[in-house]
Amino acid sequence: MTPDPRHDAVEVISAKRDRHELTDSQIDWVVDAYTRGEVADEQMSALAMAILLNGMGRREVARWTTAMIASGERMDFSSLSRPTADKHSTGGVGDKITLPLAPLVAACGVAVPQLSGRGLGHTGGTLDKLESIRGWRAALSNDEMLAQLESVGAVICAAGDGLAPADKKLYALRDVTATVPAIPLIASSIMSKKIAEGTGALVLDVKVGTGAFMRTVEEARELATTMVGLGLDAGVHTVALLTDMSTPLGLTAGNALEVRESVEVLAGGGPDDVVELTLALAREMLAGAGHDDVDPADRLADGSAMDVWRAMISAQGGDPDASLPTSRETQVVTAPASGTLARLDAMAVGMAAWRLGAGRARKEDAVQAGAGVVWHARPGDPVSEGQPLLTLHTDEPERFARAMESLEGSFEIQQSEIRRGDSTSPSSFSALVIDRIGA
Ligand code: URA
Repeated sequence: MTPDPRHDAVEVISAKRDRHELTDSQIDWVVDAYTRGEVADEQMSALAMAILLNGMGRREVARWTTAMIASGERMDFSSLSRPTADKHSTGGVGDKITLPLAPLVAACGVAVPQLSGRGLGHTGGTLDKLESIRGWRAALSNDEMLAQLESVGAVICAAGDGLAPADKKLYALRDVTATVPAIPLIASSIMSKKIAEGTGALVLDVKVGTGAFMRTVEEARELATTMVGLGLDAGVHTVALLTDMSTPLGLTAGNALEVRESVEVLAGGGPDDVVELTLALAREMLAGAGHDDVDPADRLADGSAMDVWRAMISAQGGDPDASLPTSRETQVVTAPASGTLARLDAMAVGMAAWRLGAGRARKEDAVQAGAGVVWHARPGDPVSEGQPLLTLHTDEPERFARAMESLEGSFEIQQSEIRRGDSTSPSSFSALVIDRIGA
């Protein structure tokens, strides 16, 4: 594209600084010029901060998203013999749902093209989890992805560099300029990639609570409503579920630990909350793709979701029968009193897993496949003094001390009985699915 003489970076930054709406032409220009290197990082940082402080209207967010999509390629799944549906989670602790969900939905007749990322910070990355399976390969060409979607029905792989390159550059900049938590920027970042990926239906799992980006239901609802609007405007059948992330999901956080728990779900077992959320998201994906006559619970029970999982792992070079890596060292935290576990904080558990080696501080760091945290009780469960409450796993025992620091004050044991959804208790647990936004 040739330089547009109508615009320059200072004019666009000052417009947003002074709380004006950016015009379509300003947005198209600034996103394209930044991707090409004509707008400098320091100028885009100032604009991102002005957007964080002053916000964007619906038209501006939609145009910004379209401009980011236009910076790269768009995938096309129209040649497939079945409809497509995808899921995106805004990220949580112990959130392994993609692993059982993708093969389950495929077993119900809908193809799942799941482009995923690696973890940064306290939430785990789906690719890091799958890479704990011997031989499994995250990088696929577009042709390989299409062929696997047709033959197996589900693909979980790394997003290629061609998809929304403007977002790749901008997200890295936001990460180091404290401008990640701007709802217009989060919504356009997520939706530009999902719309460019070309899925027919999309279900968003917007997490709320201490372990999530969005700490309050109000913020989560605003983000969800913005993303659903962007998806619908782009012709993608989009629904969002707001789900609780005040306590971590399931009983494990860590790469191989989460794969093991996911396989248990596919085998018909696994923790109730992981099964509940997997089925809730599967039902939304199937409805969005026009296949709501199939009950995903039946496909879990009859083993067909497990068959797709095995085919999906094998197709990408993995050995579904290989034993998963375990950590060299463990340390147990016991319950200091008897009673009911009233609270287990998602952020604290995520930080502990990260400090044990399950996550990375910089993109280029390696992760430990066996590291992480296992909790032996969930909020609402009875516990006895001295019983194991948490087991920490790592290959490097010098990591235990820092992990223990992040767990200080992370749980609470009460004498009275309390249940999930019990509104009479001051420390009651919210329901797992808090709200649904969409058609
Ligand atoms: N995930 C994304 O892909 N982008 C954001 O801005 C935040 C979370």
